[in-house]
Amino acid sequence: MILIDGKKVAAEIREELKKEVSDLKSKTNKVPGLTVVLIGDMAPSQIYVRMKEKAANEVGLKSEVIRYPDSAEEKTVLEKIDELNKDKSVSGILVQLPLPKHIDKQKVIEAISPTKDVDGFHPANVGNLSSGYESIVPCTPLGCYLLIKKLEKNLSGKKAVIVGRSNLNGKPMAQLLLKENCTVTITHSKTKDLKDECLEADIIVAAVGIPELVKGDWVKKDAIVIDVGINKTDKGIVGDVAFDEVSKVAKALTPVPGGVGPMTIACLLKNTIECFKKAH
Ligand code: GUN
Repeated sequence: MILIDGKKVAAEIREELKKEVSDLKSKTNKVPGLTVVLIGDMAPSQIYVRMKEKAANEVGLKSEVIRYPDSAEEKTVLEKIDELNKDKSVSGILVQLPLPKHIDKQKVIEAISPTKDVDGFHPANVGNLSSGYESIVPCTPLGCYLLIKKLEKNLSGKKAVIVGRSNLNGKPMAQLLLKENCTVTITHSKTKDLKDECLEADIIVAAVGIPELVKGDWVKKDAIVIDVGINKTDKGIVGDVAFDEVSKVAKALTPVPGGVGPMTIACLLKNTIECFKKAH
């Protein structure tokens, strides 16, 4: 079994990006800038944002985190986004999710200029991706895609089963694999006979947020299994895949942590640099 080392692949990508930022700096006298907006004090979001900031600094990006208390008004956030949209030193804007209940997520996502939408959540980017046009691709599915492509160049005709239908992961993941000519099935927590669906798959991407849902006897021999889950349980952080069981059957599997997570951050930096390049 191949243990897919997302941490290592992400470090390689970050090295390349660091060089690219340095070249861009020599050419333009400017560096790409990433601004992250964080509302509230949810512990996981705090941790993710700190990791994003650190990674951005390491590759030489200009990075800024704007923090608001949980009580911040929607209007304040929308005005800040408007300001960031106009700021030429800001290449990419990311508003960390989830948001407090009184703030309309869709309004916030739509307020970000599609050209600075490093998350790829704006309807313009979602639409472009689903039409097969050039677009900014959400970081986590992009990271999963790069890991899969590293293992297998030609995905044409492969059967991919995605467990989870979120806008963040499942849906964009399906678009990326469709573009590669995979036959894609999107399943979710209400899918009947989920086990049988998974057993058909050459590639499984589990992004449903249910601890260790995908069992060893759900996986075809020699399937590639990508685990997007990060679930807090009594025995610590586990993915959506029962790692020990599935590792005995799969051809390749991502660990949690150290699989998809580091790739998400590397892809965020990649998207920020892409936005900068388009703007200059
Ligand atoms: N919260 C969890 N994952 C993500 C992500 O990819 N982007 C944003 N903005 N918030 C998140």
